[in-house]
Amino acid sequence: MCCVFEGLLRYTTYDIRHTRNVVKRHFLTLNYPFDRIERKIKIDSKNKRKHLLKKKFYVTTAISYVNDVPHLGHACEAIAADVLARYNRLKGHNVFFLTGTDEHGNKIAQAAEKKGITPAELVDTMTDRFRTLSKNLNISYDDFIRTTELRHTKVVCEIFKRLYEQNDIYKGTYKGWYCTPCESFWLESQLREERLCPECKREVQRIEEESYLFRLSKYEKPLLKHFESHPSFVLPATRRNEVVQFIKRGLKDTSVTRLRLDWGVACPVEKKHSIYVWIDALINYISALGYTLNGERFSTYWPADVHLIGKDILRFHGVIWPAILMALGIKLPRMVFAHGWWKLKGEKMSKSKGIVIDPEEIVSEYGADCLRYFLLREVPFGEDGNFSISLFVKRVNSDLANDLGNLLNRTIPLVIRYCQGKVPPFYKDGGELKKKTEKVFSELDSAMNVLAFSQALSSIWKIVKLSNLYIDKNAPWQLAKEKNKQKELHNILYNLLETLRILALILFPFIPDSAQKIWTQLGIEGSIEDQIVDKAKIWGQLKPGTKVKEGPPLFPRIQKKSV
Ligand code: MSP
Repeated sequence: MCCVFEGLLRYTTYDIRHTRNVVKRHFLTLNYPFDRIERKIKIDSKNKRKHLLKKKFYVTTAISYVNDVPHLGHACEAIAADVLARYNRLKGHNVFFLTGTDEHGNKIAQAAEKKGITPAELVDTMTDRFRTLSKNLNISYDDFIRTTELRHTKVVCEIFKRLYEQNDIYKGTYKGWYCTPCESFWLESQLREERLCPECKREVQRIEEESYLFRLSKYEKPLLKHFESHPSFVLPATRRNEVVQFIKRGLKDTSVTRLRLDWGVACPVEKKHSIYVWIDALINYISALGYTLNGERFSTYWPADVHLIGKDILRFHGVIWPAILMALGIKLPRMVFAHGWWKLKGEKMSKSKGIVIDPEEIVSEYGADCLRYFLLREVPFGEDGNFSISLFVKRVNSDLANDLGNLLNRTIPLVIRYCQGKVPPFYKDGGELKKKTEKVFSELDSAMNVLAFSQALSSIWKIVKLSNLYIDKNAPWQLAKEKNKQKELHNILYNLLETLRILALILFPFIPDSAQKIWTQLGIEGSIEDQIVDKAKIWGQLKPGTKVKEGPPLFPRIQKKSV
């Protein structure tokens, strides 16, 4: 009974008035403590108002194909989205972070056939692998959508019907080429002589079939206008220019159904057709918000603030998706960010080509935070990067073990030795460390607004390096020998501890586990997750007298032999 109530009361956040009536109607007669419910409703109503006042932030990743297990490229995209989500939560924003899996299409059906299992069995197993990876990488998504879920397919059909009824979709014939690994249509004019997919350079199939087509051509001008008035709609700028050039070459109506596709959403207008997987997949960004079903989530979070995708799927996100949204009369996402590729010896990682690094192996050997840090620090986000274990070891040892790890592992023992393990008194002289940490927040904001993660980390590392120099320069072990230097000694150690507190706060989005360990070693209770950066960033909040806790080295040096 109480559980029923709890469920119902959680729902009150969505519709206080309705719930009140339901509660009165159904439970007054059951002798339930109605006062408690009224109080809870009032609190929820207050929270709802607070919630509405908050700025919202909606971030999505591409939904991954589940024909095979995840690789480093998938991991990197999930990590980047997670960093954005955690950063915005720290800023006090109302965040919704969506990820998921793309489970329909010939590519999946063929992969299942090869394995001798049904597509349904394959997608269940593979989706579990993606979910497990997310867990092991500490990805804090709010929702995980699968395109085989009813909540999604219902919306896909609804949208298809609507576009057909308003004549944005019509029946015709599609003549062209199709690449199954990319699930992409290509026109004759887009192929080179060798007739290979321009994207993945694999064989394409000739198609000439009855098909439903979306009037993409109608949206050519409105799209160009949108690009002109929203310069950061697609980032980085080079990618934006590519899309604009593509549109300017002229848009042709595009096929949105396939014949002979059993593993897909049946076309609601004519059952022998199935909905083209890309149309099915793109709709996840709004079906997960309950578009057409439950307006509350949709009206709270849409439009997306960032669609995070790889550069290979920009045509779908920068052209087809916004055109569909225009046809539906709903707002366009604020930003589509197309990142580069992780490569191995110069080639794009791809499971089917056997060029992969398994992120699970790296996580189990070195921990999620080392991988999270490396992927976002090593290469400016947006550019391609070459992965190698030697680069990974070098970066982790220098930045995490030597710089950050050492800073913590030097500071805490000094406090234990010279201050009986307690945060010393605070003399309000933060000096250069205070100045530097105060400056970092605006630098961070500018970098994070354009997803310049490597730049953000480099700004943070200036503080880490300065703090290590601060220890060397001030030599607390010398001050400790002189009786009249106690105040100075305490001041220096306080500044170091306070800098570490702020470092833990701003590093939390990037390396959440390690940042929390720093927080705990500083003797601060609770989780960084519950902090709001604008309050927590104010210098001097570490309470003198707090007991610090020495822990094992945060990032033990990686020995070459273990690689
Ligand atoms: N299912 C489509 C996306 C539909 S979104 C409505 C798809 N899936 S995918 O599994 O091939 O790729 C998922 C994401 O991983 C894409 O953003 C893709 O660009 C990215 N990556 C795939 N390989 C990559 C690298 N080697 N490096 C970095 N990211 C890459 O596309």
